[in-house]
Amino acid sequence: MKPFICGNWKMHKTVEEALSLVKELLVILPHTVYEKVDVAVAPSFTNLYPVYQVISGTPVALSAQNVYFEKEGAFTGEVSVDMLKSAGCSYCIVGHSERRRIFGETDEWVNLKVRALKDAGLIPILCVGETLEERESGKTLEVIERQLNSALEGVDIRGADELVVAYEPVWAIGTGKVATPSQAQEVHAFIRQILEGLYKDLAKDIRLLYGGSVKPDNVSGLVKERDIDGALVGGASLKAQDFAAIVINTLEVV
Ligand code: PGA
Repeated sequence: MKPFICGNWKMHKTVEEALSLVKELLVILPHTVYEKVDVAVAPSFTNLYPVYQVISGTPVALSAQNVYFEKEGAFTGEVSVDMLKSAGCSYCIVGHSERRRIFGETDEWVNLKVRALKDAGLIPILCVGETLEERESGKTLEVIERQLNSALEGVDIRGADELVVAYEPVWAIGTGKVATPSQAQEVHAFIRQILEGLYKDLAKDIRLLYGGSVKPDNVSGLVKERDIDGALVGGASLKAQDFAAIVINTLEVV
């Protein structure tokens, strides 16, 4: 399966900084990489359209980091799927643990967001993952199962490329504590199994990303695993050199 590397810029970069990051990335990444790896960047809302104007016509895709599920209306401060589409997005991250934890997003909201994205033809990058406490009390798989089943309730897909799932153990995000390849693979295999229950044959081709302290020197070990089909990269996506190295190191093992 063609791996997918997405850079989650979180709440970083002014317009100017975002433009210089993406321009540098386009210069550094050799054109041949895109034949073997799909690449996307996920800037903040204010940087989506400016970044789109630079990457449009290149193989680099655009992702948002969040969305609101209503079509339009009096929802001060929110952004709709159509707005994302018109800004050039093809993907949107949903259910990131920072949104769940800091902004109180529930499984139900995540489901509504996934549905709204699907209806608009945007591809959700659905994030799931357990906290350290949940892992230590042996609840990892139970949490993942609950998050997946509720986020995907009533969501039909016709092609494996209509959905991306990212396993992001909360204890590994921004902490420098990456999951070992076998810890990640165990959960990825479980995610694949749940997706098989939901989407039958399509499940084997749905891309499952790992996220949480992915760096140039640990990405190859992860993507070598059978069910790890790429990475959602936070901190290391903020430097063009590091992000490019992650893409290139991925390409070398696939
Ligand atoms: P990190 O973040 O790479 O900085 O750990 C990953 C993410 O939150 O998507």
